[in-house]
Amino acid sequence: MTNWGILATGKIAGKFATALRETPAARLVAVGSRTEEKARSFVEEHADEGCRAHASYEALVADPSVEVVYIASPHSHHLAHARLALEAGKHVLCEKPLTLSVTEAREMVRLADAHDRFLMEGMWTLCHPLVIELKRRLDSGRYGVPRQVHADLGWHVDAPPDDRMLNPALGGGALLDMGIYPLTFARLVLGRPEQLTAVAVLSSTGVDLDVSVAGRHVGGGTSSLSASMTSWPSRTATIATTTGCIYVDADFHHPPSMTWRPHRGEPETIVATDPVVGDGYGNEALEVMRCIDAGLRESPLVPHALTLEVMVQLDELRGQIGVTYPEDR
Ligand SMILES: NC(=O)c1ccc[n+]([C@@H]2O[C@H](COP(=O)([O-])OP(=O)(O)OC[C@H]3O[C@@H](n4cnc5c(N)ncnc54)[C@H](OP(=O)(O)O)[C@@H]3O)[C@@H](O)[C@H]2O)c1
Repeated sequence: MTNWGILATGKIAGKFATALRETPAARLVAVGSRTEEKARSFVEEHADEGCRAHASYEALVADPSVEVVYIASPHSHHLAHARLALEAGKHVLCEKPLTLSVTEAREMVRLADAHDRFLMEGMWTLCHPLVIELKRRLDSGRYGVPRQVHADLGWHVDAPPDDRMLNPALGGGALLDMGIYPLTFARLVLGRPEQLTAVAVLSSTGVDLDVSVAGRHVGGGTSSLSASMTSWPSRTATIATTTGCIYVDADFHHPPSMTWRPHRGEPETIVATDPVVGDGYGNEALEVMRCIDAGLRESPLVPHALTLEVMVQLDELRGQIGVTYPEDR
């Protein structure tokens, strides 16, 4: 059994808590919120008997029964909250994006090293059984050479300007919240990008509502990626290869199905060997527990170097579209 604590009680924290219930060998033992009331109602709704409700994040990380802290606060607060957990000697799974900038992300990795604790960004796509199977098959060469990736993600965000999606003080914007998935997917399939160019439409609050990115990757692949807070995109991905095309069905970042359609020959459904657990969040939790049990301090599926590389891309793209956060100064 691995004992989990959840820091912050927003939307994704609820989904993760539900997933933990379906994850073998995982137990939610404590929840921390800025208010006692929210901590209590979260525990009532999402946890089993015995789970403690802490009225502060400090009390959560001081709870001796917690081994791993799952950080589910807005990106702008990830570094401060990971610091609390790591300094208290806890392992950390931190929601994506790891931080607002690569400078902050490097500091988080440094803290994990200094305290000899496990740290992983919650890039659950990379822990998804079907995505792992896709990568294995692509690497085997059976689908030819991937040349072009198209991927889009988004939903119409109907929220007030102080919501974390729109508020620059909370790291708002489509690129960091949604665009990180197409970028990570293209990186997985085509390798490191050597050029990324973005255009965006900004909100009155100064964050990106819609963003499109064109990429050229080492080895000659190209990508076309987008994220939208003003519309309902297909949320699918396609991978065009030298011998056919792979269709990744919506939502591509935790895909329900994928099909290989060769230029010549019959289509083939891509099937994973491992089951999807807790909607895919459970697979992420399983990876964290597997690594901690093995004495690892980072996951080979979501290594620190990859997280930092994508953070560099996000910094660069943010610079191109003119989105700045108070932390940048
Ligand atoms: N992996 C995924 O599929 C996925 C999906 C959605 C979001 N996320 C990531 O998860 C993180 C949280 O997203 P969310 O949609 O759950 O956000 P949310 O619903 O707004 O919840 C964020 C929570 O953070 C806490 N918090 C601490 N300081 C805060 C502040 N200054 N302002 C507002 N809230 C604050 C609050 O919990 P308390 O009041 O209990 O302290 C709040 O409920 C983001 O980094 C996002 O990118 C990941």
